Amino acid sequence: MVIYTDKQLLQSFVRREKKKGKQLGFVPTMGALHRGHMSLVEMGLSENDFVVVSIFVNPTQFDNQQDLDKYPRIHKQDQELLESLEGEVILYIPDAQSIYGESIKARRFTYDGLEHQMEGAHRKGHFDGVGTILTLLFDIVEPDRAYFGEKDFQQLQIVKKLVEKHHISVEIIGCPIVREANGLAMSSRNRRLSKKEFEEAAFIYKVLMEVRTRFSSESISNLKKFVEERFLHHELLKLEYFEIANEKTLVPAVRKRKHNRYRGFIAVHSGSIRLIDNVALY
Ligand code: PAF
Repeated sequence: MVIYTDKQLLQSFVRREKKKGKQLGFVPTMGALHRGHMSLVEMGLSENDFVVVSIFVNPTQFDNQQDLDKYPRIHKQDQELLESLEGEVILYIPDAQSIYGESIKARRFTYDGLEHQMEGAHRKGHFDGVGTILTLLFDIVEPDRAYFGEKDFQQLQIVKKLVEKHHISVEIIGCPIVREANGLAMSSRNRRLSKKEFEEAAFIYKVLMEVRTRFSSESISNLKKFVEERFLHHELLKLEYFEIANEKTLVPAVRKRKHNRYRGFIAVHSGSIRLIDNVALY
């Protein structure tokens, strides 16, 4: 597998290939790849002639130093997983200096209010960091299409807004959540869960599915109370937030309105590990 660490070398390679008329898919990641990431790369390979996967644990999107320090970094395993795929995959593993230069700082971004809800409200500066790294990466990689998982549904909507507002010429494609056999949404952070924590974390999806079943017959405030009560006495999981929000605006809903589509969004802590998930309620 060809691996680039130097942005100029990657850029010259990509430009050469694109001059031949090849279409490029891009899957930006922070590594510790799992089946969710692989589904994005597979989708990219099915729609493009080649795919660049970047691995970069982006410091400016973390609001918690411990989370950043403990983020799993397993490049060799990641490479092996990508090598098991059929198709042309190029790995790009830059270091912080080559991306940010001397000053590792986020720029400020606004996304028409999408940034104020849920993850934006609970992780200060997170979406500034995401916007900063993605504008830098899009500028280097110049992809035709870029693939993002719906597990980070708010991020997906924000990236769509980012490219629209900044006139970045890339098509953003959202891909369905991939789940463990027990229902837990796949995440690089799942590696940090003990066996018991992993098993217990299945409760998150179970509760989301209960909400989905009750959605048509119960009010939003009752459903929020229901979720809070389900987590109240859980021995391992602590609820950070549960919201039912308009899928487009991400504004938490107070009451249901006809023709709007809603999703349930949740963030939960299992010890020091933060897990998020969401489910469509239509
Ligand atoms: O979803 C992620 O892994 C990250 O937020 C991303 C998109 C790679 C930006 O660092």
